[in-house]
Amino acid sequence: ADTLGSAATAKGRYFGTAVAAGHLGESAYATTLNREFTSATPENEMKWDATEPNRNTFTFGAADQVVNHALGQGMTVRGHTLVWHSQLPSWVGGLGTADLRTAMNNHITRVMQHYKGKIHSWDVVNEAFQDGGSGARRSSPFQDKLGNGFIEEAFRTARAADPAAKLCYNDYNTDGVNAKSNAVYAMVKDFKSRGVPIDCVGFQSHFNSASPVPSDYQANLQRFADLGVDVQITELDIEGSGTSQANSYANVVRACLAVSRCTGITVWGVTDKYSWRSSGTPLLFDSNYNKKPAYDAVLSALGGS
Ligand code: G3I
Repeated sequence: ADTLGSAATAKGRYFGTAVAAGHLGESAYATTLNREFTSATPENEMKWDATEPNRNTFTFGAADQVVNHALGQGMTVRGHTLVWHSQLPSWVGGLGTADLRTAMNNHITRVMQHYKGKIHSWDVVNEAFQDGGSGARRSSPFQDKLGNGFIEEAFRTARAADPAAKLCYNDYNTDGVNAKSNAVYAMVKDFKSRGVPIDCVGFQSHFNSASPVPSDYQANLQRFADLGVDVQITELDIEGSGTSQANSYANVVRACLAVSRCTGITVWGVTDKYSWRSSGTPLLFDSNYNKKPAYDAVLSALGGS
């Protein structure tokens, strides 16, 4: 196998990337995307501010562009994301409790119904826990008004809206064993024991020198998998360059391959040119779409060449 996607397929995994609708018209971007990747995650186009900027007015144009492109290329699609404190239009924060509950469930239902049958996995709830050692929930309109039960309610609503989609909880700084991942672990364990519908946990995996690939990354993925959920690496990027960046990427791929329920890896962008880390070089292709040492390391770790 001589592409990321074909090598991952040979290992029973997908290899995906975040995709921005606005770049699909750039031929080198589309060529690289189509050649290398078997899964796509709209980078911003499915977020609440993009899909329901005003209450009950749904706008799917940009997300449809990404979904249609991906499906047309035979890729699967990750839906990102239904309930998140960020990129939330201001009208949501202004609602009272009963109204907010209705709006959350309506948003989940309408967006998932629009894409019914087209989405492999949905990030139903994103980043609901705080950083630091408390293991507490993060303040958000949902948390503050609906309380801890909002996550469970979101997952139950999501299951009803598209029963075939895998339902994921997604977060960052949960990649190793720490207070935050322990809190997510406790939630998933509780959900599984009570039959709350959850199928997968996403580990964003945004790494840099201050937050490198944890030494217990594989062990952490495995303990979640042992709860009976799939695990996915959902937003991988690693700051740096050259051999050290390549080694870190290879470690991530090896960790996923060592966990049978690690079903796929998504990098958070095709090229350094458009990374959200505007001054960084965290991805597998440079700004001219040349393969970096990190690309070769990933391909080789996947068993390709
Ligand atoms: O679309 C507007 C455009 O109209 C405007 O002219 C321009 C001016 O700043 O802003 C554009 O919106 C930007 C949007 O990306 C689309 O490019 C926002 O300002 C910018 O904040 C937004 O950043 C995104 C960020 O999420 C927002 O939180 C990044 O692209 C996206 O990569 C990043 O992705 C997140 C995941 O969803 C969740 N996990 C963390 C990850 C990295 O932060």
